[in-house]
Amino acid sequence: MDKLRITGGRKLQGQVRISGAKNSALPAMAATLLTPEEVLLTNIPLVADIRTMRRLLGELGVKAEFEDGHAVRATAEKITSNEAPYDLVKTMRASVLALGPLLARSGKARVSLPGGCAIGARPINLHLKGLEKLGATIRTEYGYVEAEAERLTGARIVFDKITVTGTENMMMAAVLAKGTTVLENAALEPEVTDLAELLTKMGAKISGAGSPTITIEGVSSLHGATHAIIPDRIEAGTFLVAGAITDGDLEITACNPEHLTVVIDKLEDAGVSIEKGKDRLRVKPGSNLQASDVITKEYPGFATDMQAQYMALMTQANGISLITENIFENRFMHASELLRMGAHIRIDGARAIVGGKTRLTGATVIASDLRASASLVLAGLVADGVTIVDRIYHLDRGYEKIEEKLQSAGADIERVK
Ligand code: EPZ
Repeated sequence: MDKLRITGGRKLQGQVRISGAKNSALPAMAATLLTPEEVLLTNIPLVADIRTMRRLLGELGVKAEFEDGHAVRATAEKITSNEAPYDLVKTMRASVLALGPLLARSGKARVSLPGGCAIGARPINLHLKGLEKLGATIRTEYGYVEAEAERLTGARIVFDKITVTGTENMMMAAVLAKGTTVLENAALEPEVTDLAELLTKMGAKISGAGSPTITIEGVSSLHGATHAIIPDRIEAGTFLVAGAITDGDLEITACNPEHLTVVIDKLEDAGVSIEKGKDRLRVKPGSNLQASDVITKEYPGFATDMQAQYMALMTQANGISLITENIFENRFMHASELLRMGAHIRIDGARAIVGGKTRLTGATVIASDLRASASLVLAGLVADGVTIVDRIYHLDRGYEKIEEKLQSAGADIERVK
């Protein structure tokens, strides 16, 4: 099992290039199930979840080849299986994104129920309710959900909770349904808009993506397309924090600052000085970090996927900050590991109270989920001494070569087998 070994104290400087967004590439790859023609997706991040999604598509009959580093060429000429097996779904909940397109394309889908994960129960009841509204019959037994529908028919679906992959699944199910589908209280995330753009290029008729109401006119078939995946806003935010926490001078390129407005505002509230360009951001040194409260909310609010990274930063800010996690019920696992590094954090339900500025000392810490791992790496960059982050397969799911990017910016970090 790989580990990362970090010796803290280096100020980051130089440049890091942001990869494509994992959470856009995953639904985009699932969307290739919707057409027998070839779809070329570029700016794909080479992370473990993408490789898992490729394996899943392969099981379903999709020929998907990676090429020239960051592109995937996928052709679902014929669906040869309708089942997303447990051993794949258990490693990646985003496999549930195969449900909508598989049902729309072949009328049948059998997907292992994803089960919970470290950060929460993460049910898919809203996905299933939406598919039933579109006319599917749903059966959940033996740990699988089975969905069948001769042909899906358009409907009005109101999400009683905002769900990112729920919105994406319903969009992909509705594009081939008979008639019009209206999604209300839809997710506004940029990854939803990116998927709508890909589907539109494939011939779908979608309006309102990026707003709470998305209207989809079903069509009889979709054709191939070429699409570039948007930059990963969470990776970009993570490197903004890396620059800030080490008081470095770090330029982040190939990103989209418009997807990070609230995160940038919050970091500036905390005293971080950030220069903004069209596709680049630069953290400048000399910030005197001040505590600033944060509440995670659906987009465009402060992203829950940035909460763990922000908590690491607040250990280095003067004053007491209050971090409220509204999206997931158990997303503070990083706090117990940060405490072992000397942080002063008190958890009270959905709220974490962080005292700062505290001296962190290196320790052997264990990653529990993707963004918690990032938070521990960030703390290691500023801690005195050596930090060993264990179980970094969590990190590899969503960050492409994070240690190489940090090394190139001057961090003393290496991967040890
Ligand atoms: C997506 O997960 C992201 N994953 C997550 O990123 C991200 O944290 C999350 O959205 C919130 O922004 C991908 O896009 C692949 P939700 P998703 O459905 O879609 C509840 C990362 O770090 N809910 O928006 O699974 C759910 O329990 C990952 O890259 C239901 O109750 O999240 C949660 O409390 C982690 N029933 C809330 O809604 C449902 O049917 C938001 O979940 C669906 C969701």
